[in-house]
Amino acid sequence: MRKPAVLVTGASGEVGYGLIDLFDSVDDMDVIALDIKPLDDQLHEKCAVSIAGDILDENLLQRLVSEYEIHAIYHLAALLSTRAEYTPDTAHRVNVEGTLNLLKLAHEQARWHGHAVPFLFPSSIAVYGLPDTETKKRAGRVREIDWNFPTTMYGCNKSYCEMLGRYYTLHYRQLAADSVRGGVDFRSLRFPGLISVVTMPTGGTSDYAVEMIHAAAQGRPYDCFVSEDAKIPFMVMPDAIKSLRLLAAAPAEALTQRVYNVTSFSLTAAELRDRVLSHFPKAVIRFRPDPPRARIVDTWPEDVDDSPARKDWKWEPDYSASRAFNDYLIPGISRLYS
Ligand code: SER
Repeated sequence: MRKPAVLVTGASGEVGYGLIDLFDSVDDMDVIALDIKPLDDQLHEKCAVSIAGDILDENLLQRLVSEYEIHAIYHLAALLSTRAEYTPDTAHRVNVEGTLNLLKLAHEQARWHGHAVPFLFPSSIAVYGLPDTETKKRAGRVREIDWNFPTTMYGCNKSYCEMLGRYYTLHYRQLAADSVRGGVDFRSLRFPGLISVVTMPTGGTSDYAVEMIHAAAQGRPYDCFVSEDAKIPFMVMPDAIKSLRLLAAAPAEALTQRVYNVTSFSLTAAELRDRVLSHFPKAVIRFRPDPPRARIVDTWPEDVDDSPARKDWKWEPDYSASRAFNDYLIPGISRLYS
């Protein structure tokens, strides 16, 4: 008999870390953690099995399902926006072909055990592309259907995978004689810039927020690569995990869409600096914009409208900007570097 399990890809990344912690504390389902890098010991202990491997390796995925029956997939593995710009072809392979492999796997698993496989997929504010800062200001809080003109490979990849997820859920093999709906239950969140005290993101463009806070806590000067007035929405990791948990638990009838915006608070880089300085008054934070990277941030909305998530599955962030700093970032980061 194969054992039932939840598959988490990108398990060592910033979201994977928090998610596996949550599964460890509340869920009795075995977790299979997959990441391109070996998991650290602390995380490894919380999983039934952890595998260092590539989501593009279809043989690896097949070996996995010979032993485990997959009942849910949290597909977190991706190359983030800055890194993807340096290696767009690789990004496309990992972000799109990797996702396709996992959607196929979800469908195949559902055919085996007869239940739809929830497929939780973090998308991003990078799917939006505002043409200039004037328009960005005017647009304010953007809805899911607005300004879907990504300017990065990562944003294009996420946008297309949202469509693939919807397709696999609603229309996959629609012309086949034995076509059955309901194999994949794709649910996606468009995350804002995520901030964690536990892990540093690698290769994102919203990373300046995390870098600024961690540098201040370590007493290192920080040169911020966007300008003072660059503004995007943010969320701390506990809220990101909460939103994933709520969306995963929502009854299917409650969902009016497959892809939802979520956000907690929006700050300019200067406001972020001021908050960091109020906790670390000696921090040295300079603005030295790197125009190409700063431009990417300028194409992302300054706020998103997350009212469908609030209405459909009662989403509400726990952390305002003040609470994020006072109750999560500062205590967590002080512990990390003390
Ligand atoms: N944090 C991501 C990035 O910067 C956006 O979702 O690439």
